[in-house]
Amino acid sequence: MNAKTTSAAVEIALVCPICSGKLAALPDQVTCENCRHTFPLDGGIPNLFWQNDWSAEKPDVTRAMQAFYEKTPFPNYDDFDSAEALRLKARRGVFAKLLDEQIRHGSSILEVGCGTGQLSNFLGMTWGRTVVGADGCLHSLELAENFRRENEIKGTKFLQMNLFRPVFPQESFDFVVCNGVLHHTSDPYLGFQTIGKLVKRGGFILIGLYNKYSRLTTDLRRWMFRVSGDRMQFLDPQIRDRARNRGRKDAWFLDQYKNPHESKHTFGEVQGWFKENGFEFMNSIPKAQGESFATDEKLFEPHSPGTALNHFLVQTGEMLVGGRDGGFFIMIGKRL
Ligand SMILES: C[S@@+](CC[C@H](N)C(=O)[O-])C[C@H]1O[C@@H](n2cnc3c(N)ncnc32)[C@H](O)[C@@H]1O
Repeated sequence: MNAKTTSAAVEIALVCPICSGKLAALPDQVTCENCRHTFPLDGGIPNLFWQNDWSAEKPDVTRAMQAFYEKTPFPNYDDFDSAEALRLKARRGVFAKLLDEQIRHGSSILEVGCGTGQLSNFLGMTWGRTVVGADGCLHSLELAENFRRENEIKGTKFLQMNLFRPVFPQESFDFVVCNGVLHHTSDPYLGFQTIGKLVKRGGFILIGLYNKYSRLTTDLRRWMFRVSGDRMQFLDPQIRDRARNRGRKDAWFLDQYKNPHESKHTFGEVQGWFKENGFEFMNSIPKAQGESFATDEKLFEPHSPGTALNHFLVQTGEMLVGGRDGGFFIMIGKRL
């Protein structure tokens, strides 16, 4: 039997991360019909992670990042989180709410670098969707899968994967979401190109990255923490937030201030990635032209990409208001 990730809506075939051969599902493992490599199942999570085979000269932080997140799964859950609490929390955030409302019925969604799987689990609560959460970190996936199982979320599946060695045929998904991940790799553009190929023609990609300008506020805080021996953590609004438990605050602190690797990017750069790889710019958070983001914003309809001056003003403006969410921005493109 060929290995597939199945849910109420669509079946997605799996391919071998080593040779792209078909994967066959057995009760306790997954085997490649071509190269015969076997991959274990860990608590129901297929371990399909395979390392990069880049030349020795090309830097590769994949192992270092894997080791970091194995110790610090991100973003982690709060003690009181239940399906209802997750739904309420997600719907308070503009991005998750709009995504949930605007993804059409019957869609297939891949979240690359899903971490502890909050977004994948939230999106999978709606009937008729197929959501796959993939990450390199098994510890995060175990938390994600426990939450999924305990809350009987039927639309979501999790698997372990290196985003540079995808386990899906090209053009498998209507939506590929990759939030806060590519900037923790050695080659964000190659990562974008690799996961971009998994989007169907007419489908959408959503990429969240640290911004070169907006993240300067975080850089300043990192420096202040370093000189104060980490005693000034109250300067970070997320750490001051009383609603979060210690585990989530620690995960945020380590992810933001002690991460072994991060890079920073600009609106113009990601729009260039879109153009070079057959994607049309649709929208962004914050908006590229500088208007305010409406509560009923259409994520998947074309909007003005803005000018270089617009970009500069928006990105530096975000820095001046304190680099909300660590100076993060999201760009949405449609595959032509
Ligand atoms: C900052 S967390 C973001 C988690 C989640 N997307 C969110 O927004 O909360 C970055 C995630 O990227 C994953 N990651 C980094 N490099 C990866 C790679 N090469 N393949 C798969 N996942 C990777 C890490 O394991 C980690 O869970």
